[in-house]
Amino acid sequence: MTSSDNKLYAELLDDIKAIVNDERLYHEKNFNLRAQAIDDIEFHIIDRIDGINELATLKQYAEKVKHDLEAVNTQMFWQLRAKISTGELRGQLLLNQISEYFDNDLNSFLLEDKPGYDNLDVFFNGLLIDQSLPDETIVREPEMVFYQKTPTRIILELIKRADFKSTDVFFDIGSGLGQVSILVNLLTGVTAKGIEFEPAFCSYADTCAASLNLTNIEFINTDASDADYSTGAVFFMYTPFEGKMLQDVLQKLSREAKKRMIRVFSYGPCTVEVGKQGWLINNCEDQDCLSKFGKFVTSQSLA
Ligand SMILES: C[S@@+](CC[C@H](N)C(=O)[O-])C[C@H]1O[C@@H](n2cnc3c(N)ncnc32)[C@H](O)[C@@H]1O
Repeated sequence: MTSSDNKLYAELLDDIKAIVNDERLYHEKNFNLRAQAIDDIEFHIIDRIDGINELATLKQYAEKVKHDLEAVNTQMFWQLRAKISTGELRGQLLLNQISEYFDNDLNSFLLEDKPGYDNLDVFFNGLLIDQSLPDETIVREPEMVFYQKTPTRIILELIKRADFKSTDVFFDIGSGLGQVSILVNLLTGVTAKGIEFEPAFCSYADTCAASLNLTNIEFINTDASDADYSTGAVFFMYTPFEGKMLQDVLQKLSREAKKRMIRVFSYGPCTVEVGKQGWLINNCEDQDCLSKFGKFVTSQSLA
Protein backbone atom coordinates (compact mmCIF):
# COMPACT_ATOMS: atom_id res chain seq x y z
CA MET A 1 0.00 0.00 0.00
CA THR A 2 1.20 3.53 -0.67
CA SER A 3 1.57 5.85 2.32
CA SER A 4 -1.54 7.76 1.25
CA ASP A 5 -3.48 4.44 1.15
CA ASN A 6 -2.16 3.68 4.64
CA LYS A 7 -3.31 7.06 5.89
CA LEU A 8 -6.73 6.65 4.32
CA TYR A 9 -7.01 3.11 5.74
CA ALA A 10 -6.28 4.34 9.29
CA GLU A 11 -8.66 7.28 8.98
CA LEU A 12 -11.56 5.24 7.59
CA LEU A 13 -11.00 2.37 10.04
CA ASP A 14 -11.34 4.88 12.89
CA ASP A 15 -14.58 6.18 11.33
CA ILE A 16 -16.01 2.67 11.00
CA LYS A 17 -15.01 1.76 14.56
CA ALA A 18 -16.68 4.91 15.88
CA ILE A 19 -19.91 3.73 14.27
CA VAL A 20 -19.55 0.13 15.49
CA ASN A 21 -18.90 1.33 19.05
CA ASP A 22 -21.79 3.78 19.14
CA GLU A 23 -24.39 1.68 20.98
CA ARG A 24 -27.12 4.24 20.34
CA LEU A 25 -27.17 3.22 16.68
CA TYR A 26 -28.39 -0.27 17.53
CA HIS A 27 -31.35 0.95 19.58
CA GLU A 28 -34.38 0.78 17.33
CA LYS A 29 -35.69 4.17 18.40
CA ASN A 30 -32.63 6.09 17.18
CA PHE A 31 -33.67 5.88 13.53
CA ASN A 32 -32.57 9.39 12.62
CA LEU A 33 -29.07 8.85 13.99
CA ARG A 34 -28.84 5.43 12.33
CA ALA A 35 -29.98 6.77 8.96
CA GLN A 36 -27.23 9.39 9.19
CA ALA A 37 -24.64 6.71 10.02
CA ILE A 38 -25.77 4.52 7.08
CA ASP A 39 -25.47 7.55 4.83
CA ASP A 40 -21.98 8.28 6.16
CA ILE A 41 -20.83 4.70 5.56
CA GLU A 42 -22.18 4.77 2.03
CA PHE A 43 -21.05 8.20 0.89
CA HIS A 44 -18.10 9.07 3.10
CA ILE A 45 -16.52 5.68 3.63
CA ILE A 46 -17.43 3.15 0.90
CA ASP A 47 -17.37 5.77 -1.85
CA ARG A 48 -13.84 6.82 -0.86
CA ILE A 49 -12.61 3.20 -0.80
CA ASP A 50 -14.22 2.28 -4.13
CA GLY A 51 -11.64 1.49 -6.79
CA ILE A 52 -8.69 1.10 -4.35
CA ASN A 53 -7.98 -2.64 -4.53
CA GLU A 54 -5.68 -2.57 -1.51
CA LEU A 55 -8.59 -1.43 0.69
CA ALA A 56 -11.03 -4.14 -0.47
CA THR A 57 -11.11 -5.80 2.98
CA LEU A 58 -11.91 -2.49 4.62
CA LYS A 59 -14.75 -2.03 2.14
CA GLN A 60 -16.15 -5.45 3.08
CA TYR A 61 -16.00 -4.46 6.74
CA ALA A 62 -17.82 -1.19 6.04
CA GLU A 63 -20.46 -3.04 4.04
CA LYS A 64 -21.01 -5.48 6.90
CA VAL A 65 -21.47 -2.65 9.41
CA LYS A 66 -23.91 -0.95 7.06
CA HIS A 67 -25.78 -4.23 6.62
CA ASP A 68 -26.02 -4.68 10.42
CA LEU A 69 -27.51 -1.21 10.82
CA GLU A 70 -29.96 -1.81 7.97
CA ALA A 71 -31.01 -5.05 9.65
CA VAL A 72 -32.12 -3.02 12.70
CA ASN A 73 -34.34 -0.97 10.38
CA THR A 74 -35.71 -4.04 8.59
CA GLN A 75 -36.77 -5.57 11.88
CA MET A 76 -38.25 -2.26 13.07
CA PHE A 77 -40.27 -1.77 9.86
CA TRP A 78 -41.49 -5.35 9.98
CA GLN A 79 -42.83 -4.85 13.51
CA LEU A 80 -44.38 -1.49 12.67
CA ARG A 81 -46.09 -2.87 9.56
CA ALA A 82 -47.51 -5.78 11.58
CA LYS A 83 -48.99 -3.39 14.16
CA ILE A 84 -50.37 -1.07 11.47
CA SER A 85 -51.98 -4.01 9.67
CA THR A 86 -53.89 -5.11 12.76
CA GLY A 87 -55.03 -1.51 13.34
CA GLU A 88 -53.18 -1.39 16.66
CA LEU A 89 -50.89 1.43 15.54
CA ARG A 90 -52.43 4.20 13.48
CA GLY A 91 -53.36 7.87 13.76
CA GLN A 92 -51.92 9.95 16.60
CA LEU A 93 -50.42 6.86 18.27
CA LEU A 94 -48.38 6.11 15.16
CA LEU A 95 -47.40 9.75 14.78
CA ASN A 96 -46.17 9.81 18.41
CA GLN A 97 -44.11 6.70 17.78
CA ILE A 98 -42.63 8.17 14.59
CA SER A 99 -41.80 11.32 16.51
CA GLU A 100 -39.74 9.20 18.94
CA TYR A 101 -37.70 7.84 16.01
CA PHE A 102 -36.86 11.46 15.21
CA ASP A 103 -35.76 12.57 18.69
CA ASN A 104 -39.29 13.83 19.46
CA ASP A 105 -38.58 16.74 17.18
CA LEU A 106 -40.69 16.29 14.05
CA ASN A 107 -41.42 20.01 14.06
CA SER A 108 -37.85 20.83 13.16
CA PHE A 109 -38.38 18.86 9.92
CA LEU A 110 -41.65 20.67 9.18
CA LEU A 111 -40.01 24.05 9.62
CA GLU A 112 -37.19 23.24 7.21
CA ASP A 113 -37.43 25.43 4.17
CA LYS A 114 -35.21 23.65 1.70
CA PRO A 115 -36.07 21.54 -1.32
CA GLY A 116 -35.33 17.82 -1.54
CA TYR A 117 -35.76 14.77 0.63
CA ASP A 118 -34.56 13.93 4.13
CA ASN A 119 -34.53 11.09 6.67
CA LEU A 120 -38.32 11.29 7.03
CA ASP A 121 -38.48 10.09 3.42
CA VAL A 122 -36.00 7.32 4.16
CA PHE A 123 -38.25 6.27 7.04
CA PHE A 124 -41.49 6.22 5.04
CA ASN A 125 -39.83 4.53 2.05
CA GLY A 126 -38.86 1.74 4.41
CA LEU A 127 -42.26 1.61 6.05
CA LEU A 128 -44.40 1.70 2.90
CA ILE A 129 -42.44 0.29 0.03
CA ASP A 130 -42.01 -3.45 -0.24
CA GLN A 131 -42.28 -3.91 -4.01
CA SER A 132 -40.20 -2.90 -6.99
CA LEU A 133 -41.06 0.41 -8.63
CA PRO A 134 -43.33 0.04 -11.66
CA ASP A 135 -42.49 1.17 -15.19
CA GLU A 136 -44.93 3.53 -16.87
CA THR A 137 -47.18 1.71 -19.34
CA ILE A 138 -48.85 4.59 -21.18
CA VAL A 139 -47.50 7.73 -22.77
CA ARG A 140 -48.19 10.94 -20.86
CA GLU A 141 -49.87 13.78 -22.75
CA PRO A 142 -47.76 16.96 -23.19
CA GLU A 143 -49.13 18.94 -20.22
CA MET A 144 -48.95 16.01 -17.80
CA VAL A 145 -46.06 16.10 -15.33
CA PHE A 146 -43.92 13.00 -14.65
CA TYR A 147 -43.98 11.23 -11.30
CA GLN A 148 -42.06 12.77 -8.46
CA LYS A 149 -43.00 12.16 -4.87
CA THR A 150 -43.99 14.85 -2.41
CA PRO A 151 -41.39 15.09 0.38
CA THR A 152 -42.79 13.46 3.53
CA ARG A 153 -42.33 16.60 5.63
CA ILE A 154 -44.73 18.38 3.23
CA ILE A 155 -47.32 15.61 3.70
CA LEU A 156 -46.98 15.91 7.49
CA GLU A 157 -47.37 19.66 7.20
CA LEU A 158 -50.46 19.18 5.03
CA ILE A 159 -51.94 16.85 7.66
CA LYS A 160 -51.21 19.38 10.40
CA ARG A 161 -52.68 22.31 8.51
CA ALA A 162 -55.72 20.47 7.15
CA ASP A 163 -56.94 19.60 10.65
CA PHE A 164 -59.27 17.00 9.11
CA LYS A 165 -62.79 16.30 10.35
CA SER A 166 -63.55 12.58 10.47
CA THR A 167 -66.13 13.00 7.68
CA ASP A 168 -63.75 14.78 5.29
CA VAL A 169 -62.82 13.01 2.08
CA PHE A 170 -59.29 13.74 0.87
CA PHE A 171 -58.24 13.70 -2.80
CA ASP A 172 -54.68 13.60 -4.12
CA ILE A 173 -55.00 14.69 -7.76
CA GLY A 174 -52.24 12.93 -9.69
CA SER A 175 -51.53 10.47 -6.90
CA GLY A 176 -48.50 8.67 -8.36
CA LEU A 177 -47.43 5.75 -6.17
CA GLY A 178 -49.97 6.74 -3.55
CA GLN A 179 -47.96 7.70 -0.52
CA VAL A 180 -49.75 11.02 0.09
CA SER A 181 -53.18 9.33 0.29
CA ILE A 182 -51.75 6.44 2.30
CA LEU A 183 -50.15 8.71 4.90
CA VAL A 184 -53.23 10.92 5.16
CA ASN A 185 -55.42 7.87 5.69
CA LEU A 186 -52.96 6.16 8.04
CA LEU A 187 -52.36 9.18 10.24
CA THR A 188 -55.85 10.73 10.29
CA GLY A 189 -58.28 7.92 9.46
CA VAL A 190 -60.15 10.01 6.87
CA THR A 191 -61.23 8.48 3.57
CA ALA A 192 -58.57 9.13 0.95
CA LYS A 193 -58.79 8.91 -2.82
CA GLY A 194 -55.96 9.10 -5.31
CA ILE A 195 -56.62 10.06 -8.92
CA GLU A 196 -53.92 8.78 -11.25
CA PHE A 197 -53.57 8.54 -15.03
CA GLU A 198 -50.96 5.75 -15.05
CA PRO A 199 -52.54 2.32 -14.31
CA ALA A 200 -49.27 0.77 -13.10
CA PHE A 201 -48.96 3.49 -10.44
CA CYS A 202 -52.53 2.85 -9.30
CA SER A 203 -51.98 -0.89 -8.88
CA TYR A 204 -48.72 -0.23 -7.03
CA ALA A 205 -50.56 2.11 -4.64
CA ASP A 206 -53.43 -0.40 -4.23
CA THR A 207 -50.97 -3.16 -3.29
CA CYS A 208 -49.21 -0.86 -0.85
CA ALA A 209 -52.48 0.12 0.90
CA ALA A 210 -53.76 -3.48 0.94
CA SER A 211 -50.50 -4.73 2.49
CA LEU A 212 -51.19 -2.45 5.45
CA ASN A 213 -54.85 -3.49 5.58
CA LEU A 214 -56.05 0.05 4.92
CA THR A 215 -59.67 0.05 3.87
CA ASN A 216 -61.15 3.52 3.33
CA ILE A 217 -58.70 4.35 0.60
CA GLU A 218 -59.08 4.10 -3.15
CA PHE A 219 -56.89 4.72 -6.18
CA ILE A 220 -58.89 5.64 -9.25
CA ASN A 221 -57.23 5.19 -12.60
CA THR A 222 -58.54 8.04 -14.68
CA ASP A 223 -57.56 11.36 -16.20
CA ALA A 224 -58.01 14.05 -13.53
CA SER A 225 -60.10 16.04 -16.02
CA ASP A 226 -62.70 13.23 -15.99
CA ALA A 227 -62.68 12.41 -12.26
CA ASP A 228 -65.68 12.77 -9.98
CA TYR A 229 -64.83 15.19 -7.15
CA SER A 230 -68.32 15.42 -5.71
CA THR A 231 -67.39 13.81 -2.37
CA GLY A 232 -64.16 15.76 -1.81
CA ALA A 233 -63.57 18.22 1.03
CA VAL A 234 -59.78 18.58 0.94
CA PHE A 235 -57.78 18.44 -2.30
CA PHE A 236 -54.03 18.21 -2.79
CA MET A 237 -51.96 18.69 -5.91
CA TYR A 238 -48.22 18.34 -6.30
CA THR A 239 -48.10 19.90 -9.75
CA PRO A 240 -49.63 16.98 -11.66
CA PHE A 241 -50.06 18.97 -14.89
CA GLU A 242 -49.71 22.43 -16.31
CA GLY A 243 -51.34 24.82 -18.78
CA LYS A 244 -54.89 24.23 -19.98
CA MET A 245 -55.14 20.86 -18.22
CA LEU A 246 -54.45 22.55 -14.87
CA GLN A 247 -56.92 25.35 -15.59
CA ASP A 248 -59.63 22.82 -16.60
CA VAL A 249 -59.22 20.81 -13.40
CA LEU A 250 -59.19 23.99 -11.28
CA GLN A 251 -62.40 25.04 -13.02
CA LYS A 252 -63.90 21.65 -12.18
CA LEU A 253 -62.96 22.24 -8.53
CA SER A 254 -64.47 25.73 -8.66
CA ARG A 255 -67.79 24.15 -9.67
CA GLU A 256 -67.57 21.88 -6.61
CA ALA A 257 -66.82 24.96 -4.49
CA LYS A 258 -70.14 26.46 -5.51
CA LYS A 259 -71.90 23.51 -3.84
CA ARG A 260 -69.86 23.36 -0.59
CA MET A 261 -66.74 24.70 1.06
CA ILE A 262 -63.66 22.90 -0.14
CA ARG A 263 -59.98 23.38 0.66
CA VAL A 264 -57.14 23.11 -1.82
CA PHE A 265 -53.51 22.49 -0.89
CA SER A 266 -50.83 22.69 -3.50
CA TYR A 267 -47.11 22.17 -3.68
CA GLY A 268 -44.60 22.99 -6.37
CA PRO A 269 -44.93 25.25 -9.41
CA CYS A 270 -48.72 24.82 -9.82
CA THR A 271 -49.06 26.78 -6.57
CA VAL A 272 -48.66 30.03 -8.51
CA GLU A 273 -51.75 29.21 -10.62
CA VAL A 274 -53.74 27.89 -7.64
CA GLY A 275 -52.97 31.14 -5.82
CA LYS A 276 -54.39 33.19 -8.69
CA GLN A 277 -57.84 31.55 -8.54
CA GLY A 278 -60.34 34.23 -7.59
CA TRP A 279 -62.74 31.65 -6.09
CA LEU A 280 -60.16 30.63 -3.48
CA ILE A 281 -59.04 32.63 -0.47
CA ASN A 282 -55.30 32.31 -0.13
CA ASN A 283 -54.40 31.29 3.42
CA CYS A 284 -50.69 31.33 2.89
CA GLU A 285 -49.11 33.36 5.67
CA ASP A 286 -45.85 33.89 3.83
CA GLN A 287 -46.22 36.84 1.47
CA ASP A 288 -43.58 35.42 -0.87
CA CYS A 289 -45.05 31.97 -1.10
CA LEU A 290 -46.87 32.39 -4.39
CA SER A 291 -43.76 33.45 -6.21
CA LYS A 292 -41.43 30.78 -4.85
CA PHE A 293 -41.12 27.29 -6.27
CA GLY A 294 -41.77 24.63 -3.72
CA LYS A 295 -43.76 26.67 -1.25
CA PHE A 296 -46.96 25.33 0.08
CA VAL A 297 -50.32 27.09 -0.21
CA THR A 298 -53.61 26.38 1.45
CA SER A 299 -56.66 27.88 -0.09
CA GLN A 300 -60.24 27.76 0.96
CA SER A 301 -63.19 28.30 -1.35
CA LEU A 302 -65.34 31.40 -1.02
CA ALA A 303 -68.49 29.25 -1.03
C1 LIG B 1 -45.50 15.27 -9.47
S1 LIG B 1 -46.30 13.70 -9.43
C2 LIG B 1 -47.09 13.76 -7.85
C3 LIG B 1 -47.37 12.38 -7.30
C4 LIG B 1 -48.05 12.29 -5.95
N1 LIG B 1 -49.09 13.27 -5.78
C5 LIG B 1 -47.03 12.46 -4.85
O1 LIG B 1 -46.89 13.58 -4.41
O2 LIG B 1 -46.36 11.53 -4.46
C6 LIG B 1 -47.62 13.97 -10.60
C7 LIG B 1 -48.46 12.74 -10.88
O3 LIG B 1 -49.61 13.17 -11.62
C8 LIG B 1 -49.92 12.16 -12.58
N2 LIG B 1 -50.72 12.80 -13.64
C9 LIG B 1 -50.27 13.64 -14.61
N3 LIG B 1 -51.30 14.03 -15.37
C10 LIG B 1 -52.42 13.44 -14.89
C11 LIG B 1 -53.79 13.47 -15.25
N4 LIG B 1 -54.23 14.20 -16.26
N5 LIG B 1 -54.66 12.76 -14.52
C12 LIG B 1 -54.24 12.01 -13.46
N6 LIG B 1 -52.96 11.94 -13.09
C13 LIG B 1 -52.05 12.65 -13.77
C14 LIG B 1 -48.56 11.66 -13.03
O4 LIG B 1 -48.66 10.37 -13.62
C15 LIG B 1 -47.78 11.67 -11.72
O5 LIG B 1 -47.91 10.43 -11.07
